Amino acid sequence: MAKESATVFFCKECGYEASKWSGFCPSCKTPNSMVEAPKPSSPRGSFSSVRPGSLPKPVRLEEIEVDRQERFSTGSQELDRVLGGGLLPGSLILTGGDPGIGKSTLLLQVCRHLAASDHKVLYVSGEESLRQLKLRADRIGTFKGDIRFLCETNLEQILAILREEKPDVAVIDSIQTMYAPQAASAPGSVTQVRECTNMILNTAKGLGISIFIVGHVTKDGAVAGPKLLEHMVDTVLYFEGDRHAAYRILRGVKNRFGASGEIAVFEMRGTGLKEIPNPSAYMLSGRPENASGSAISCIMEGTRPLLIEVQALLTRSNYGQGRRTATGADYNRVALLLAVLEKHLNIVFSDCDAFVNVTGGLRVNDPGLDLAMVMALYSSYRNRPVPENLIVFGEVGLAGEVRSVQLAKERVQEAARLGFTTCVLPKSSLTSDLNARGIKLIGVSTISQAISLISNNE
Ligand code: TYD
Ligand code: MG
Repeated sequence: MAKESATVFFCKECGYEASKWSGFCPSCKTPNSMVEAPKPSSPRGSFSSVRPGSLPKPVRLEEIEVDRQERFSTGSQELDRVLGGGLLPGSLILTGGDPGIGKSTLLLQVCRHLAASDHKVLYVSGEESLRQLKLRADRIGTFKGDIRFLCETNLEQILAILREEKPDVAVIDSIQTMYAPQAASAPGSVTQVRECTNMILNTAKGLGISIFIVGHVTKDGAVAGPKLLEHMVDTVLYFEGDRHAAYRILRGVKNRFGASGEIAVFEMRGTGLKEIPNPSAYMLSGRPENASGSAISCIMEGTRPLLIEVQALLTRSNYGQGRRTATGADYNRVALLLAVLEKHLNIVFSDCDAFVNVTGGLRVNDPGLDLAMVMALYSSYRNRPVPENLIVFGEVGLAGEVRSVQLAKERVQEAARLGFTTCVLPKSSLTSDLNARGIKLIGVSTISQAISLISNNE
């Protein structure tokens, strides 16, 4: 009989398990992410764990008793909305993001509010000393109520403390620094991160403690990434945005207790993170006046309409083949829109470098952004500005047609609220229930019609 190998290979990003090493993960395709780890011991043998008389009993829906669980507020209306209306007791929440983006700051602020509103809170840090925690806390404000701090990385001890103290809310900062002594590998490795999360999950559910887990997103892949745990936790929040810019976007990627895809916008101040209740106005601040290559669109993020600026720059390339760069928008989408413009307007872009940028650090997937990208690209090419009070949204098809997008009414209302006077939208979205008070609606069915609004603006 062939001897079974004692090690297996794991992907650091998604946790995919393989028996052979390969240069990239067969599942998530991340290069150089496969690492060798000892095979997890699994109970084997011929004994069955099923004993007659001790079987769990499946139940009917009517038999399930639901006691209405009170959600509690985190002190930030925006964060409550992303969580689906507040924090639910016994839930496990993963907060991911680049190092230094503000995960610890946000959670410390949440803990401060919860403690002040009579909840028992325990903040466990495996990254910072008590002194560092105090310095951060001093910047944020005064702390009242039952909140305690612990610097520890041995998860068995942490969980023992949780069982003894039974706080309402706990923070584990960060999962990559924790280790479970029984799992024989280094902290931050795939095996450890998985094992630790499993142990935390059992404690959260068993004792009804809401636990926030911090997970660093790692570019170089030296430690396991938070993607690995997404399926184990109830809610996944990711911080987006540039660490060096002031604003941070928190996006709910998964939510077992509410809608996912909601976002909250925060600004990093000297005294911690401050929520921005009106992100559209914030995203548009600092917009260049009368500049070519800039168009405003209204996209949907979850249930919220959001105005953003998309900028494009077309310049003649010094090398034969033009480069394409997209920041905040999908690269392939930009290439596709350039091809559609070339084909339908008889322009040649192949010797141009094209740069597209969505300002505000947001990553946009809404197809409604297409028409704004087309407008911005054309505006830059012709060097003519898009009219200032004009807002545009719509999906662009390969035949140069402008297709309808969902929730047109919400988008138009948000544009009107922020003082835009003209809205260019897909003709098929022009329905009678659009509230067009104070804003002129122009329905277009092809990109040429949309673009003529730029050409006529001389
Ligand atoms: P931090 O919350 O520690 O990030 P993470 O836990 O995600 O690694 O810190 C975020 C950054 O914000 C850090 O560089 C310091 C800065 N900061 C402020 O600008 N103002 C503040 O009030 C605080 C607490 C931090
Ligand atoms: Mg931190």
